Amino acid sequence: MARLVIDDQIKKSRIQPEIYGHFSEHLGRCIYEGIFVGENSDIPNVNGMRTDVVEALKEIKIPVLRWPGGCFADEYHWKDGIGPKEKRKRMVNTHWGGVVEDNSFGTHEFFELCRQLGCKTYINGNVGSSTVQEMSEWIEYMTFEGVSPMAELRKQNGHEKAWQVDYFGVGNESWGCGGNMRAGYYADLYRRYQTYVHVYDKEHPILKICCGAGAGDAGAEKYEWTKEVLDAAYENTPLQEHGRMDGMSLHFYVFPGGWENKGQAAEFDETTWYQTLYKALFMDELVTKHGAIMDQYDPEKKIGMVVDEWGCWFDCEPGTNPGFLYQQNTVRDALVAGITLNIFNKHSDRVKMANLAQMVNVLQSVLLTEGNKMIKTPTYHVFHMYRHHQGANLLESSLSGVNEVGQGGWKVPEITEACSMDAEGVITVTLNHLSVNEEKELDIVIAGGEVFEVLEANIVTGKMNAHNTFEAPETVKEEKFNGYERRGNGIRVTLPACSVTEFRLRKN
Ligand code: AHR
Repeated sequence: MARLVIDDQIKKSRIQPEIYGHFSEHLGRCIYEGIFVGENSDIPNVNGMRTDVVEALKEIKIPVLRWPGGCFADEYHWKDGIGPKEKRKRMVNTHWGGVVEDNSFGTHEFFELCRQLGCKTYINGNVGSSTVQEMSEWIEYMTFEGVSPMAELRKQNGHEKAWQVDYFGVGNESWGCGGNMRAGYYADLYRRYQTYVHVYDKEHPILKICCGAGAGDAGAEKYEWTKEVLDAAYENTPLQEHGRMDGMSLHFYVFPGGWENKGQAAEFDETTWYQTLYKALFMDELVTKHGAIMDQYDPEKKIGMVVDEWGCWFDCEPGTNPGFLYQQNTVRDALVAGITLNIFNKHSDRVKMANLAQMVNVLQSVLLTEGNKMIKTPTYHVFHMYRHHQGANLLESSLSGVNEVGQGGWKVPEITEACSMDAEGVITVTLNHLSVNEEKELDIVIAGGEVFEVLEANIVTGKMNAHNTFEAPETVKEEKFNGYERRGNGIRVTLPACSVTEFRLRKN
């Protein structure tokens, strides 16, 4: 029997909504087809954005969207994507599938998408193959309200008002696809490029994000990168004062068998189930250890850790373009999402943003599309349940009676959890049950022993590789959960195997 004790008197860090952020790159069918179909498409759209996709995304309360990459960002030249569409440059997308990029989705379209979603904007700039001038002019084009060449150009292109850039990334994976730089060299470039990311509107600072480490499997965590970059580029500039560094990124993907042996998205055995979840749990160690390095420079935690790429990366679906990274999404992905989001909640004193890779049709997507059809993935339903954590305060909580489960040497805890309280005093509890075939009983109580009522309980569960298809779109979905009963002042829950569960509680 496991037991979860929630201490609602100990409110910890605020869970910044941006932890539930997303990422959309010019990669495969993410932007084109998945989000943007153009105004003349037969697929219902508003100003070119698919209505079905935008409506589904609004339901999970997308707080922030990162664009245009990824690796694509360091090859992107923003002037190619403005002005009359028929005059925009057609070019090759060298990173992703060698397909033609016609630049029909550019700066104006990105801001239109974020307007429709009602989310914050996170633009990733090009350090790898661009100049300081190009980056600085982009900022001027997007955010300067007065008289200037770039503001005039924006107006000529039909947008009178400046937009708001909430976050700006100075390079992406600069140690890899973003220029293969060494840490000291990048740190100097960071110092230089960010100088020209001017904040024209002091009431709406642009928060600047420095390129941090990217970790594959254990053993490649790049702790030296974090240390060397901070050593050379950090000065004590608080987040609120939009100084030289407001955030530092971290990338981590789960490749079950390693980069060379990622495995299929929907066909795998029980050992691989545990191997995948074991690797997902590694996010906790990464955040802790990179966070400890950040603490040495920034003990007050003014720089946010920005995990702006995370998720499962499997072999692409057979018969699809290998450069498009299209993969199915199963109950295993739901568990990876639930585990990872709980880790971010628990580290919300340091983690200020995270962006799932990627939003539609690429890697661990929340939505998949095929022509005019769209389906929600198991990961989507987890984000829908977890939306209640956005903006709430993390609560102190402790789990006992949790055993290890696993196969083939991959041992994981049976349950992970996170609890928060929102402004109305409602407690959200999110639970992941990692066992592939056993139920588990769990008592939930409040530390002072007070009685509470269950306002709602929801679950996403199914066989480990259950997933949705365009023919059967609702095989895995969020459902009402009744598997609990009153026990004293608390409740006794029977968690099904392979499940992500949410409870909403209120003290009487
Ligand atoms: O998300 C796919 C790719 O993974 C991104 O373009 C890159 O930043 C990372 O290596």
